[in-house]
Amino acid sequence: NKDVYILGIETSCDETAAAIVKNGTDIISNVVASQIDSHKRFGGVVPEIASRHHVEQITIVIEEAFQKANLSWDDIDAIAVTEGPGLVGALLVGVNAAKGLAFAKQKPLIGVHHIAGHIYANRFEREFEFPLLALIVSGGHTELVLMDEHGSYELIGETRDDAAGEAYDKVARVLDLPYPGGPQIDHLAREGEESINFPRAWLEEDSFDFSFSGLKSSVINTIHNASQRGETFNKEDVAASFQKSVVDVLTAKTYKAAAQYNVEQVIVAGGVAANQGLRQALEAKFSETTIPLLIPPLNLCTDNAAMIAAAGFVTYQQGKRSGWDLNANPSLML
Ligand code: KG4
Ligand code: ZN
Repeated sequence: NKDVYILGIETSCDETAAAIVKNGTDIISNVVASQIDSHKRFGGVVPEIASRHHVEQITIVIEEAFQKANLSWDDIDAIAVTEGPGLVGALLVGVNAAKGLAFAKQKPLIGVHHIAGHIYANRFEREFEFPLLALIVSGGHTELVLMDEHGSYELIGETRDDAAGEAYDKVARVLDLPYPGGPQIDHLAREGEESINFPRAWLEEDSFDFSFSGLKSSVINTIHNASQRGETFNKEDVAASFQKSVVDVLTAKTYKAAAQYNVEQVIVAGGVAANQGLRQALEAKFSETTIPLLIPPLNLCTDNAAMIAAAGFVTYQQGKRSGWDLNANPSLML
């Protein structure tokens, strides 16, 4: 059997990324140009700036992916690109680059859902076993997804308001921490005590949905009230207490879903999967069970194109292709 090489392209948010992946499991090259420094002074991703950076970077990043892999276009079997969800202007850059290249180089084109990509970031570590439960926690998503086979996704729970990463970033902002706030809070939390009892939104008994906006508001109110009364509060303790609240709910609901659906594996994906508190809590919880827990290394937790190529490989093997009408879809469903 001939090896299959997929070029992956990802531009859904603030990283311009290209990667080449062999047979869906081996990363040959993985190039990520981060724009964090450009967005930092605005305290978040500015869509217009993101689009412009993608336009500037996309060709360079793709060329670098080829150079690092020491491969040429002849070696490439298909081009996989994130079609959504994400920022429309950002997605358009990747989608149009992929379409242009697929047309010029006569390669099959494969549209990939960003969350499918995050899930497949785990396949570089270990082969999937089904049924599988995926917890996706990122700046834009908090979802529990059940998979019965490759390429099949059933959403069993999602956030009703803020995503977990969004809550991290907003709380970080009121603590005067630089963007992106997740890693900052993660760091502070290690030095603080979980002394403040922030709310946990468990929602209905049988629900696998999440809600983080109440928690976020509670943290913001606590900080405002303290400063109004001229009291000092300890940032480390706020960070530790906030993180505990997020991690408790994510861990408990993931555990409950894993047991209820009798899964063979639990995988964690998305930027917040880099969180030390979450990793430790999940590892502790699942070590009591026989269910293996997979969490990708830090550089594969956040946005990258290797994960898009890996998800695209599965679509490719299933014989599915996108047409020339492939378009950026900011609210694409899984
Ligand atoms: O997956 P990702 O790179 O982009 C999206 O698809 O959203 O995730 C970015 C999010 C940001 O909200 C960032 O603050 C959060 O992941 N994040 C973290 C950590 N590292 C990144 N949140 C908590 N702890 C971390 N260590
Ligand atoms: Zn992402």
